[in-house]
Amino acid sequence: MTDDKKPGRTRKSSGRGQRDLRVRVKTAKGRKLSSTLWLERQLNDPYVARARREGYRGRAAFKILELDDKYRFLVPGARVVDLGCAPGGWCQVAVERVNALGEKSGKRVGRVLGVDLQEVEPIAGAEIHQLDFLADGADDQVKTWLGGRADVVMSDMAAASSGHKGTDHLRIVALVEAAAQFAFDVLEPGGTFVAKVLAGGAETEMQAMLKRNFTKVANVKPPASRSDSSEKFVVAQGFRGEAVDEADDEDQND
Ligand SMILES: C[S@@+](CC[C@H](N)C(=O)[O-])C[C@H]1O[C@@H](n2cnc3c(N)ncnc32)[C@H](O)[C@@H]1O
Repeated sequence: MTDDKKPGRTRKSSGRGQRDLRVRVKTAKGRKLSSTLWLERQLNDPYVARARREGYRGRAAFKILELDDKYRFLVPGARVVDLGCAPGGWCQVAVERVNALGEKSGKRVGRVLGVDLQEVEPIAGAEIHQLDFLADGADDQVKTWLGGRADVVMSDMAAASSGHKGTDHLRIVALVEAAAQFAFDVLEPGGTFVAKVLAGGAETEMQAMLKRNFTKVANVKPPASRSDSSEKFVVAQGFRGEAVDEADDEDQND
């Protein structure tokens, strides 16, 4: 059965002899308008279709692919920690790019370690643990699992939505700051930290903190990030090796 024959889905014609290929979803009894709009967006999203075709667990995979195409941090041999990795799209990309399965002959073999609050279906080439990265000792635990420090710490985590934009923004900034602190404890000097943030004003201090601790900090909105979403990503490269706190700030800027 093709999509357009499924109940509740129709393809509309523009009426001018041209086909409008957008899939429209009819409202159905018991389905909220927000669910109808979400379903319609999913059905019309080229990244959703591409993820299905290419075997990724979600469209989020393309965000890290596009970030890596630009900044080249997922290199063969790299050891990667993916914070908040469920359902696993970013891990799948990391496994391919760092050669965690050793499929690229002659290239170094990397490691991918993902953690999440939720259980995650196994991913070939990745080691996944159910862990709250905010728990005491989570950084040491991750270093033990990894057998040392990481070259990349990446986070696509989002705090549960409160429905209030300002509150959500503050929560995600706090989560990114915590992820950055985690990265300081786990990264090898020269390492990379990638994290999702929501644009909204409260991230100025976080940006300053990243600039103190990394040689290069970029703010990016990859094409796969929906244009109507306030999410963007920070890519901080060249970890200086020892976390610099505010007290040391003046020395750093001398
Ligand atoms: C948007 S999803 C990540 C999607 C993922 N990058 C992918 O490609 O499949 C965000 C994840 O962060 C996880 N998360 C949020 N807070 C966390 C925490 N404190 N520790 C571990 N995982 C967390 C959530 O459980 C959720 O699965």
